[in-house]
Amino acid sequence: MTFDIEKLIDNALAAKANAYAPYSKFKVGAAILLKNGKYILGCNIENKSYSMTMCAERCALFKLISECYTRDDVVAICVVANSDNPVTPCGACREVMDELLYPDTPVILSNNNRDRIVTTVKELLPLSFKLER
Ligand code: THU
Repeated sequence: MTFDIEKLIDNALAAKANAYAPYSKFKVGAAILLKNGKYILGCNIENKSYSMTMCAERCALFKLISECYTRDDVVAICVVANSDNPVTPCGACREVMDELLYPDTPVILSNNNRDRIVTTVKELLPLSFKLER
């Protein structure tokens, strides 16, 4: 499915403005484009107990589910940070993408300069764990 990648990056950059990152100072934004044209936004939310921190991607993905959407509604997801290179998701976020999105869902990694890597869920987590009995 074709989509406006610039607008998706715009939305992720806008989401980054809400980041709460007083400890790392590393602000991250994420945006999920839905087939109905809406965007679900997420940002990183840190905590004084550091391990309680929520990443931007998981914030957006959990909002997706809590707002009653599923992977079938998703066109693409984008994540951006104030980084020299496009930000690459942590392992936990890759697992959650693998759980909640389709393997071929496009994942756009970007930054303030709008540099970009266009990848997919399965490229980010090859040989992912499958619950097979
Ligand atoms: N962070 C994200 O939001 N997404 C990632 O994929 C990597 C890391 C956040 C967590 C923390 O608030 C800050 O970036 C520094 O690790």
